[in-house]
Amino acid sequence: ESRVLIVKIDPEKCQGHARCHALATELFELDEFGNARVRGSGQIPPTLEDRAWIARANCPELAVEIVEQ
Ligand code: F3S
Repeated sequence: ESRVLIVKIDPEKCQGHARCHALATELFELDEFGNARVRGSGQIPPTLEDRAWIARANCPELAVEIVEQ
């Protein structure tokens, strides 16, 4: 299987609730304003896939996107 999942933050929607960061620190970092951005390319390792989906589900602004590439 060659499915690759990428996580993204929509900067227009993110309001800095930081739940994504708390739930999956390996995938997200916070900038100087407390808004989230993805670490590196955003490619989700299989071991972090579950928590990526949990982070997506827990963002109140629906700013976390997961896309297949
Ligand atoms: Fe932003 Fe949502 Fe995370 S508002 S900081 S993407 S929980």
